[in-house]
Amino acid sequence: MAPMLAALALLALISVSEQGPHEKRLLNSLLNSYNTLERPVANESEPLEVKFGLTLQQIIDVDEKNQILTTNVWLNLEWNDYNLRWNDSDYGGVKDLRITPNKLWKPDVLMYNSADEGFDGTYQTNVVVRNNGSCLYVPPGIFKSTCKIDITWFPFDDQHCDMKFGSWTYDGNQLDLVLKDEAGGDLSDFITNGEWYLIGMPGKKNTITYACCPEPYVDVTFTIMIRRRTLYYFFNLIVPCVLISSMALLGFTLPPDSGEKLTLGTYFNCIMFMVASSVVLTVVVLNYHHRTADIHEMPQWIKTVFLQWLPWILRMSRPGKKITRKTIMMSNRMRELELKERSSKSLLANVLDIDDDFRHVPPPPNSTASTGNLGPGTDFRRSFVRPSTMEDVGGGLGSHHRELHLILRELQFITARMKKADEEAELISDWKFAAMVVDRFCLFVFTLFTIIATVAVLLSAPHIIVQ
Ligand SMILES: *[C@@H]1O[C@H](CO)[C@@H](O)[C@H](O)[C@H]1NC(C)=O
Ligand SMILES: *[C@@H]1O[C@H](CO)[C@@H](O)[C@H](O)[C@H]1NC(C)=O
Ligand SMILES: *[C@@H]1O[C@H](CO)[C@@H](O)[C@H](O)[C@H]1NC(C)=O
Ligand SMILES: *[C@@H]1O[C@H](CO)[C@@H](O)[C@H](O)[C@H]1NC(C)=O
Repeated sequence: MAPMLAALALLALISVSEQGPHEKRLLNSLLNSYNTLERPVANESEPLEVKFGLTLQQIIDVDEKNQILTTNVWLNLEWNDYNLRWNDSDYGGVKDLRITPNKLWKPDVLMYNSADEGFDGTYQTNVVVRNNGSCLYVPPGIFKSTCKIDITWFPFDDQHCDMKFGSWTYDGNQLDLVLKDEAGGDLSDFITNGEWYLIGMPGKKNTITYACCPEPYVDVTFTIMIRRRTLYYFFNLIVPCVLISSMALLGFTLPPDSGEKLTLGTYFNCIMFMVASSVVLTVVVLNYHHRTADIHEMPQWIKTVFLQWLPWILRMSRPGKKITRKTIMMSNRMRELELKERSSKSLLANVLDIDDDFRHVPPPPNSTASTGNLGPGTDFRRSFVRPSTMEDVGGGLGSHHRELHLILRELQFITARMKKADEEAELISDWKFAAMVVDRFCLFVFTLFTIIATVAVLLSAPHIIVQ
């Protein structure tokens, strides 16, 4: 400890003996008659030129909600003080001094758009004064500046934040701010930001003459141009969105029997409108798929749309049934003919059939339970006629006649059952095919929608990925 102190004392002694007295004398001669309020110019009618520069160290925070940009900045002010000049050979070669700013005149340059509690966020460092009168003042500070933040293109957005500096009280005729570097702010020490990419920081000098007063007002405005780094949002926002929407599409490729169809569809229903509508359509598909013949008949429009035209447009095929424009036209024509035939036939033929029934069919025996199921359907009437003619030929078959009728009835019943089962199976298969068609249609439309929406959104952004 002792040797160190001794060394320090020696060092102090040396410096005092070499520089101290001169500097003290110089300070006395400079500051004794110095008035900090005096604007230091040789000619009062000429403005004092202040060179103004800015070094951006760091972007600390971009507060989108409060529209405040927080930066770590060093200001750089350089001017020439007429009263602070000396001949260095008169003062032992002392060429420069460091003087606290409150002992000197200094330009009252402030940031106009400050949002700081103390308004001026600079730390008052010493001013370096040279013997030719030049003063260099570099106060560092944390600046909070207001910034109009536009997040229309989030997360592909650029932000332009102004920092407007000017003398608070002097006009342009008294204090003239000049850009130190025409290119703008000094970015050589800039620490890169994780969220924002710094595009540039141009500076501009503005001279405005207001209508009220003849003197011009000067300000220097630096614009911090930053671009959001998209990679973070790309992986945390866009990729999940794309994945979720593709999930919604995958739902349409699952077979309805797997049971997972609806679960998969409903999982994300609150995230996106598209997912919600996909669920609705999945329900429709399931509904169609599980319809049975004895509850639901198939309306003609569903037949036309889902069994003929849509499959044809979507180029879907069905085992055993070819779907082309020709077959569609043909089946429609056939249906029309059938309808026409039925309506024209009904008057005469139906009456005749009923007559036959009356004449030849014996009253149904009460004992056969099956008879209750058989109505006098038009399909079977023709077959009722045949036994009656047989009876006419055979004449006296007697007791056999009744048995034959019973067998015939059983046969008719079984045939009708089989026919009905066939029709039901066909109708169920029709419904299932309709469900498949709706599924395919949704897959097609939603895929198209997703691709178009994704491409449109991504392409309309001003830029997608920085650099
Ligand atoms: C001061 O400046 C004005 C304008 O530049 C000039 O007209 C005037 O002569 C100058 N005065 C002196 C003493 O130099
Ligand atoms: C400074 O002072 C020295 C000696 O007093 C003199 O020779 C020299 O010319 C002076 N320099 C200026 C710039 O006035
Ligand atoms: C004062 O001197 C410094 C270096 O000694 C020089 O850079 C500066 O330009 C000079 N300023 C004036 C006004 O002469
Ligand atoms: C047939 O049923 C009806 C009503 O159920 C009854 O009145 C009639 O006597 C029954 N005929 C024979 C032959 O059993």
